[in-house]
Amino acid sequence: FSRIVKPTSALACQATRHFSTSKQNNTKVTVVGAAGGIGQPLSLLLKQSDLISELSLYDIVKHTPGVAADISHMNFPARVKGFTGPEQLRDSLKGSQVVIIPAGLPRKPGMTRDDLFTANASVVRDVALAVSEVAPTALVGIITNPVNSCVPIFCEVMRKAGKLDPNRIFGVSTLDLVRASAFIGEAKGLNPKEVNCPVIGGHSGISIVPLISQCQPAVQFSQDELAKMVARIQDAGTEVVKAKAGAGSATLSMGFAGARFALSLIKALSGQSNVIECAYVMSDIAGTKYFATPLILGKNGIEKNLGIGKLSNYEQELVNKAIPEIKDNVAKGEQFVK
Ligand code: NAD
Ligand code: LMR
Repeated sequence: FSRIVKPTSALACQATRHFSTSKQNNTKVTVVGAAGGIGQPLSLLLKQSDLISELSLYDIVKHTPGVAADISHMNFPARVKGFTGPEQLRDSLKGSQVVIIPAGLPRKPGMTRDDLFTANASVVRDVALAVSEVAPTALVGIITNPVNSCVPIFCEVMRKAGKLDPNRIFGVSTLDLVRASAFIGEAKGLNPKEVNCPVIGGHSGISIVPLISQCQPAVQFSQDELAKMVARIQDAGTEVVKAKAGAGSATLSMGFAGARFALSLIKALSGQSNVIECAYVMSDIAGTKYFATPLILGKNGIEKNLGIGKLSNYEQELVNKAIPEIKDNVAKGEQFVK
């Protein structure tokens, strides 16, 4: 009996998928930095979404149209176009509802994310200016490091242009959540896909604050194990940078995490309810101007900030340590735009 039922239900599934495709695939997404280590796998994953009608791939390197041609051969509905050079940036962005930015230099061993500020601040500023001109209502996900400063840079450029809507601008911290799920799942023998641990604060070292007391399903660690787990999540980026030995930082896991975040934005845009992601956004919830917390996403970006929730004493100490770091990073970004 199951042999007969299975193919039938599989077909029914496909039919449903096709129906929803024709109804909903009207989102244009631009990836800025699309030819890079993150940009390529991110674009590869986005091409597979039935919710995307147009995938616009922009990078300053000449072979970007080649990356676009390559991805365009995948048999999914999204039309793929490649753009290269600053003179094509605005064309790539025009009409986009979602813009994801993995453009800029990655770390080498021995560097902090803040060491990337000099190289990457102007990249984010220039993209923000173009977005303010041709896609001011797009939902924007900033992957470029240092995220804690790049989001304030983006917001201040939008403010200067009179186009700031802080509900639409996100620092992508999804990789911290992906890592928390992976490491906690591994430590506790749980399926990491089913582990959900909020990570708040910012995206650099001690500003990354995993809330393991709020993990679903609930998990127990001794204080010593807890401190080790928190340190591993906070230092996971550095773990990859060291292991890649000079060849860059996380690209594949970030491509995956960036696609998850982008697809959550797109699902929310397409009217799906209760889409929740943590991200680093303008928020005074912790007494800093920006802070990552769980957010309910909607058609206009942040629908509701779910806040920090109940913290253990240990987590409160972690937040207290994160605050001065985030304040410094935010001030540096804002100062750059002034
Ligand atoms: P990469 O060097 O492999 O790729 C970056 C791409 O950006 C390159 O193709 C480059 O040509 C392009 N680029 C540079 N300047 C540009 C500009 N002005 N406009 C458009 N494109 C431009 O680096 P990567 O490994 O892909 O990392 C990209 C950024 O993402 C780095 O800053 C890295 O630190 C950051 N990152 C963030 C997270 C996170 O969790 N938020 C995780 C990993 C990496
Ligand atoms: C990460 O967390 O992997 C990224 O922020 C890249 C880095 O420099 O660690």
